[in-house]
Amino acid sequence: MGAPVVKRYRDVAGDGGSDIVGQVQAQQARLRARLSSVRAVLAVVSGKGGVGKSSITANLAGALALAGARVGVLDADVNGPSMAKMLGVRGRRLVVGPDGVEPPAGALGIAVMSMDLMLPDDATPVAWDAPTQAEGHTWRGAMEASALREFLADTAWGSLDVLLLDLPPGTDRLVTVLGLVPVVAGAVIVTVPSGVSHLVVRRSITAAAAAGAPVLGLIENMAGMFQGPGGEDLAHAAAIPFLGRVPFDPALAAAADRGEPYVAVAPAAPAALALSAIAAGLAAVILPAPT
Ligand SMILES: Nc1ncnc2c1ncn2[C@@H]1O[C@H](COP(=O)(O)OP(=O)(O)OP(=O)(O)O)[C@@H](O)[C@H]1O
Ligand SMILES: [Mg+2]
Repeated sequence: MGAPVVKRYRDVAGDGGSDIVGQVQAQQARLRARLSSVRAVLAVVSGKGGVGKSSITANLAGALALAGARVGVLDADVNGPSMAKMLGVRGRRLVVGPDGVEPPAGALGIAVMSMDLMLPDDATPVAWDAPTQAEGHTWRGAMEASALREFLADTAWGSLDVLLLDLPPGTDRLVTVLGLVPVVAGAVIVTVPSGVSHLVVRRSITAAAAAGAPVLGLIENMAGMFQGPGGEDLAHAAAIPFLGRVPFDPALAAAADRGEPYVAVAPAAPAALALSAIAAGLAAVILPAPT
């Protein structure tokens, strides 16, 4: 039996002369070149929405920056971006320099790129025009992937120790990112202590591992807020490291609303201490000291 004949995108004749395939390949090459000056890419993910992925991303970025690392954050949530607000760069204009789009420096000098920086005002939603409503889901996935590819290829990050990716909820998002980013150092999974969250997150852990992402571990966020099972048990059952427990703390949310990483403004608060310890543990894994 011969090899199965699979028609690849590039084999489909005629793209209207726009050379889409060539453009995508050129973008992929730019993306690889950009990321060659980034020591480690770290994705913060959860199958579940609202568990604190973005808050944790902002604070891990803050803790790493406070420890002296050069840090960038890509808001991979193109539909509901929050990184620009949490890191204090909302309303900043993007400048196109000789080397590409320059990410504005937010709190603690963290470089931030987000769809939010491209929206004209607060009320404008991110809208994808699907040819028909039935195709909306597929179209949106494709548009999100191409928006991310563009961000990764066109942002002049410069030299970074860590580029954190704040993902929207859903494990399929990690699969998209893994398809775009050649080397992801690892994924950090976030849950809250509730049975419902654990059920969803358990599946995300399996899916992340199946997609080939090194799963660096699980963070339990908003500890004390729910009566449900602890993250440690979930991490144990899924055979991944438990990275730590971040208590529920309204002041953490208030700091995020002001664009300030909590680890910087209240470093002695238990939530900040937990986040700093988690960041230090991750840094030891993804940024090994040169030998
Ligand atoms: N440990 C915490 N203590 C108090 N509030 C928190 C904590 N973690 C997150 N929050 C708050 O909970 C809300 C949701 O957090 P966040 O936006 O970080 O979640 P998310 O997982 O990124 O959500 P989405 O799935 O929509 O991207 C925010 O208002 C945030 O300030
Ligand atoms: Mg978020």
